[in-house]
Amino acid sequence: MSKKAISKSVIRRMPRYYRFLGELEQQGCIRISSRELSEKMGLTASQIRQDLNCFGGFGQQGYGYNVKALHEEIGSILGVNKENPTILLGAGNLGKAIATHIDFHKRGFNLIGIFDINPELSGKIIGTLEVQNTADLESFCMEHNPVTAVLCIPKASAADAANRLVSYGIKAFWNFSHYDLRIDHKNVIVENVHLGDSLLTLSYGLNSIDDTED
Ligand code: NAI
Repeated sequence: MSKKAISKSVIRRMPRYYRFLGELEQQGCIRISSRELSEKMGLTASQIRQDLNCFGGFGQQGYGYNVKALHEEIGSILGVNKENPTILLGAGNLGKAIATHIDFHKRGFNLIGIFDINPELSGKIIGTLEVQNTADLESFCMEHNPVTAVLCIPKASAADAANRLVSYGIKAFWNFSHYDLRIDHKNVIVENVHLGDSLLTLSYGLNSIDDTED
């Protein structure tokens, strides 16, 4: 099946499948049925069969899924073996946390540069990288050709920075700034992350708990 035919909702579930299958593999699990996987993941077995059929039907009747093969295949669809060169803008609290706590390599990315507009941060070390000034961004991009940018900068700077980065060859944004980036450039993709939205979903859940059920 072509990549186009995989629905967005299935793609959204793929990282979770990848994570669960990786944990199962580490625990020495060779194969798993859709029923067992569904119990672990809190999805229905038929949902799992439908989802995994999108990737070529790895399950065998009476055998289940080969954990290692399925983990590798989903990883390959997700592109975890790539080394997409990536830069991060904004070496503040969030930028530092992302640069040091996210394992980019495990997810197909290679963080090669951290930039900040504040000259006082230039030369500071975050992880293994030295913070550079945004004045050097263009020449860095011309030399190293990053394709992805992580935006940890204030909302007010996000649109301008993104447009500038697109002109330097950036094709994908992992956007943490609270600005809903809509880049009108063909082939540029944006993944907006709002941790607060996740917390609001939790809040909704709390509000929906029926106290009388205890
Ligand atoms: P911060 O103030 O500690 O760091 C922001 C950094 O960006 C500063 O070092 C500043 O000099 C730099 N900067 C500003 N304009 C820039 C530009 N054009 N190019 C490069 N660097 C630039 O702020 P913090 O706490 O790190 O947060 C950063 C942004 O992320 C804020 O806008 C905040 O609202 C947002 N945020 C988003 C979250 C989310 O879930 N999406 C969670 C937490 C923060």
